[in-house]
Amino acid sequence: MLSLVALPPEPKSPPLVQTLRWAFRPLQFMDACRRELGESFSVRFLGFERPMVLISDPEAIKALYREPSHGLPPGRNIILEPILGSKSLLIQEGAEHLSRRRLMLPPFHGERMRSYEEAMTEIVGTEIDSWPLHSEFPIHARMQAVTLEVILRLVFGVSSGPRLDRLRETLATVLTETATPGRQVLGLALQRFGGPGPFAHFDKQLREVDDLLFAEIAEHRERPDLAEREDMLSMLMLAEFEDGSRMEDQELRDQLMTLLLAGHETTATALAWTFDLLLRHPAALGRLRDSLDAGDEDYLRATISESLRLRPVIPLAGRRLSKELVADGIALPAGTDVTPAIWLTHTRPDVYPEPYAFKPERFLEDGPDTYSWIPFGGSVRRCIGATFAEFEMRVVLREVLTRCELHKANPLPETTGRRNITLSPKHGTPVVVTSREPAREPVAV
Ligand code: HEM
Repeated sequence: MLSLVALPPEPKSPPLVQTLRWAFRPLQFMDACRRELGESFSVRFLGFERPMVLISDPEAIKALYREPSHGLPPGRNIILEPILGSKSLLIQEGAEHLSRRRLMLPPFHGERMRSYEEAMTEIVGTEIDSWPLHSEFPIHARMQAVTLEVILRLVFGVSSGPRLDRLRETLATVLTETATPGRQVLGLALQRFGGPGPFAHFDKQLREVDDLLFAEIAEHRERPDLAEREDMLSMLMLAEFEDGSRMEDQELRDQLMTLLLAGHETTATALAWTFDLLLRHPAALGRLRDSLDAGDEDYLRATISESLRLRPVIPLAGRRLSKELVADGIALPAGTDVTPAIWLTHTRPDVYPEPYAFKPERFLEDGPDTYSWIPFGGSVRRCIGATFAEFEMRVVLREVLTRCELHKANPLPETTGRRNITLSPKHGTPVVVTSREPAREPVAV
């Protein structure tokens, strides 16, 4: 039925070309489609049976996200299930998804954030102390180290020892090796013809990660102080579904992998982009530093909102329609795969005057709007870690900017590349630190 319905127009090139343009030059591809085809358009990705309709009108996005019965388009499962596992919150749908989401929400509540602050500050402090002075290094890689450590300590509850070292090493290999668009496109193409899929070459490393995670879960189960522990794994182990049951080991493993994959690279990339933008906008950087010195975090919050607007890390957060949706005057039938094109939404001149300019001030008076600022997606599937990520970004930016004199090492602005599921700075945002203050002593209360 679906094939008889007129979807929004699509580029003339074959799916392979569309996929390659999407993989290697995503922003240029979306921009060209918007120019040539209009606000809503369809694209065909290699390996997917149906086209994906991209929308950017906030009203259409509202209509899409407000309907909780829509499902997920197949992309998430095809790409992510082999690594995350079938119980992952990112993959589950309907009642199964909602019951897990309810169970997993408490550790992400705003009021819990203060309890994570000390560990985050310590992690970024140790990282800053290791940075060389007067020589160039890519700050993206350093942010990956910080966000990985944050997840291992605060989510997994692994604090030190050989298991942490091994986990760190093996995860870094898997995440780096699967990162490039070339590998991902090849994996998807091979999978389409019965091949093993994008993560198959890392089977051995993934099994090793699993063994380490199961060992951690087993050790947690033996702990007499589980109820007092602050890490998310301890909380998830004790949390109960509505019928009184708890997550089994396999599911705990799937959710840990999910939180790691969804929360590590994304936050690191958002931080790298924020440094890149700040270092190229000295007035904004100066104002931010002054406000931090005065103990005011409003401009910091606005800077993070503006950075996530101009450099959204995840490009798409789509749904498969469970019922008709009218977008841009076109009735899209149930079964259509539809996604907001996050960057196109964030660069609409009718919503954001001077859309390509970096202006944190635009978020100082009013915070971001729910359906035209969507770096974390929306509604029942909105990023569960959004508050955690923004809090972590505030801690990291505050510590780095108050302790370090930081300069850009490349005169040219960063271009957008891809790493895993993110749109990331292609050159890793090289920086130079010219001076560094010692870490402050914790304030006794
Ligand atoms: C700047 C950092 C981050 C960005 C830009 C980001 C973005 C997103 C987006 C776009 C989605 C899809 C939402 C949708 O389909 O409507 C998502 C889902 C998710 N994110 Fe994040 N994320 C970030 C950080 C984190 C962190 C730190 C965690 C956890 C530690 C996390 C865990 C998740 C999970 C579990 C989901 C699935 C939610 C569900 O399906 O119910 N994310 N994220």
